[in-house]
Amino acid sequence: MEIHIVADAEAGAQVVADTFARTLQEAGPSGAVLGLATGSSPVPTYTELIRRHREEGLSFADSRAFLLDEYVGLPAGHDQSYHRFIRENFTEQIDIDDAAVVSPNGAAADPIAEAASYDRRIAEAGGVDLQILGIGSNGHIAFNEPGSSLNSRTRVVGLTRSTITDNSRYFDSPVDVPVRALSQGLGTILEARRIVLTATGASKAAAVAQLIEGAISSRWPATVLQLHPDVVVVVDEAAAAELQLADDYRYARRLEIENPLDVTQV
Ligand code: F6R
Repeated sequence: MEIHIVADAEAGAQVVADTFARTLQEAGPSGAVLGLATGSSPVPTYTELIRRHREEGLSFADSRAFLLDEYVGLPAGHDQSYHRFIRENFTEQIDIDDAAVVSPNGAAADPIAEAASYDRRIAEAGGVDLQILGIGSNGHIAFNEPGSSLNSRTRVVGLTRSTITDNSRYFDSPVDVPVRALSQGLGTILEARRIVLTATGASKAAAVAQLIEGAISSRWPATVLQLHPDVVVVVDEAAAAELQLADDYRYARRLEIENPLDVTQV
């Protein structure tokens, strides 16, 4: 894992946006397949990417995007649907084709069939080049709650009490939060070629410590990312507070910046 401990969310957004820019550049004219998350963690990154699009010409014109998850029971236009969230906070403000921004259909008559077809659609697009992730305070990624199979696929999942409580801030009351979601599985997420996870604030400190330093276990689903060969983790000081080896990660980053790898000399 490449671990960045940054001063604040804005500094983190620069690092994550650089990862997007690199992925777009590597994909070239055929366009990148982006995996997008909702929630508060990626918003500073989306804001920075919108700025780079407007001011620096960063283009998403040939890209496609797949969302991680969607609440079951909320139609696409619902003001708390993730379909709507990603458009308002990101994709309507860049030059990606709206039809190329795909999310699981939370209003599907048969959510189980919808889940199965979602993995197929990602595969048909050639797989995800870059997946951005947040992390729940209980260690979930997407809606893979503790106890999720480490090789799970996109499926219908029940939300835990702690996730419903965390997400109730977006709803009038906790009883309005849907109790189920369609979520990419941990196995689905691991198929992305590059993953960048971002977290800020003390409420994420325990989950971040487990993600980086804990044993791989479905108790903390994000720990499965330790198995992935290309993961960038970007956290602020508060979210890094429970890391035992934070100084080592800072030292490693500093060494890399001061001694960039010159491939012509290797
Ligand atoms: C959102 C998602 C969730 C969030 C996580 C953190 O698409 O899949 O796993 O990333 O719940 O949420 P925030 O960023 O709001 O703290």
